[in-house]
Amino acid sequence: MATKIEAVAINDAALSVRGLTADLPKGMARAHAVENVSFELERGQILRIIGESRSGKSVTANTIMGLLPKIIPVTSGAINLGGTTIVGAPEKKSRQLRGRVVSMIFQDPLSALTPLMTVGEQVTEVMAAHGVGTKASRRDRALELLCPTRNSCISSTPSGFRVVSASDIQRRKDMSVMFIPHDFGVVAEIADSVVVMDKGRIVEQGGADQVLKSPAALTRSA
Ligand SMILES: Nc1ncnc2c1ncn2[C@@H]1O[C@H](COP(=O)(O)OP(=O)(O)OP(=O)(O)O)[C@@H](O)[C@H]1O
Ligand SMILES: [Mg+2]
Repeated sequence: MATKIEAVAINDAALSVRGLTADLPKGMARAHAVENVSFELERGQILRIIGESRSGKSVTANTIMGLLPKIIPVTSGAINLGGTTIVGAPEKKSRQLRGRVVSMIFQDPLSALTPLMTVGEQVTEVMAAHGVGTKASRRDRALELLCPTRNSCISSTPSGFRVVSASDIQRRKDMSVMFIPHDFGVVAEIADSVVVMDKGRIVEQGGADQVLKSPAALTRSA
């Protein structure tokens, strides 16, 4: 199938995903890893993507990060991130955006952080890779981001601590966050809007209160 990548009108959303379809290799249980996925992440807000295993959450996130494996090609759709169209962008452009405009935070710290470097070094390394600031200013910014605040200590579980810390930093920095929790209970209250995926498609989306309190799609499929 020919790749069809459309330009997206630049709007005010931090992230806009329109009609994203990515194919699975032939012979798999279904034809598409994700099919006609559309959603927006408003500036300064938190969007949660939930869904069963293999529903397409990681493929969606990896497409945005420019990290999709070649065996899952994007065949149509468009992604606009802060005014830049990123689907089909060359690797150099994706690399410029990764870690500066968009970052991925893995929930499992063992796969996200290396024990060979301090956390502070790992934070400043990203800034250094993008040529941001001086050694001293990078250290100051890392300290500012990592210093625990009263709010960041309210969770009793390690993943809860990271989630709450991330949302605390998000508020202080007015970041837009797309969140794919594995640990359902911990993050129930942290989201402005929610996207529910099933078998590569969005089956429900809307405000967090609406979707989580009266989950039509989840009830339907039960
Ligand atoms: N590297 C890959 N090679 C082949 N198929 C893949 C690959 N990564 C994902 N898929 C397929 O793409 C589809 C979507 O998978 P995805 O990993 O996005 O699901 P997910 O919602 O993140 O699931 P989980 O909750 O288990 O992480 C699935 O059918 C999966 O088998
Ligand atoms: Mg996944």
